[in-house]
Amino acid sequence: MNPSETIIQNVTNIVSQRMADQQAGHGFDHVRRVHRTACDIQAQTGGDRFVIELAALLHDVGDAKFHEGVERSAEFSRQILGDLPVDTPTIDHVAHIVDNLSFRKHDTAEELSLEGKIVQDADRLDALGAIGIVRTIEYGATVGQPFHIAGHDPSDLNGPKTGAGHFYQKLFRLREMLHTDPARQIATERERFMKTFLTQFMSELAD
Ligand code: ADP
Ligand code: NI
Repeated sequence: MNPSETIIQNVTNIVSQRMADQQAGHGFDHVRRVHRTACDIQAQTGGDRFVIELAALLHDVGDAKFHEGVERSAEFSRQILGDLPVDTPTIDHVAHIVDNLSFRKHDTAEELSLEGKIVQDADRLDALGAIGIVRTIEYGATVGQPFHIAGHDPSDLNGPKTGAGHFYQKLFRLREMLHTDPARQIATERERFMKTFLTQFMSELAD
């Protein structure tokens, strides 16, 4: 392994340990998928592969949901990378990405670099497709939110809060927020699958 690969391997091990107790759908399984998707996008768009890999691996390491409502991913990224042979500009770049990535911050976040845009696209893509459907259902199961309420149209933005409603309120709006062409292509495919799923779901309900 070259020095960069060794660092990536170390960061992978540290993050997987730290996130070991977090639920499926928003734990290390999510991080692995974001890492892989970000690498796939980078292969087509270019950008600094090392920075992209580090930011993808570290982007949820201090997720607010698991740290008393305080987002600590950038702080933890600095600590983790500071203990490894990583130069300061790289640490600053990764921390900036991690700090400005999340959907919740998108109104106030600072402009992301190309590397940040790629990781943000990969993170958003993980809310779409078959995985996105499962994550929505898992989220609903955790907070006691039904996937659908009979008699309501999930595309009605003023309807009750449901998983199917979340597709329309948030998930089908993600594609137009993406930065890169490869991500838009993947999103189109994944959205089509979600719409097929919803059509089938509604047809099975009809009585
Ligand atoms: P991230 O931090 O990765 O941007 P979130 O923590 O907001 O994503 O959400 C994790 C998963 O839970 C996503 O797949 C998202 O679509 C789903 N989710 C979030 N909010 C809701 C909601 N109100 N109803 C259903 N699913 C949700
Ligand atoms: Ni994420």
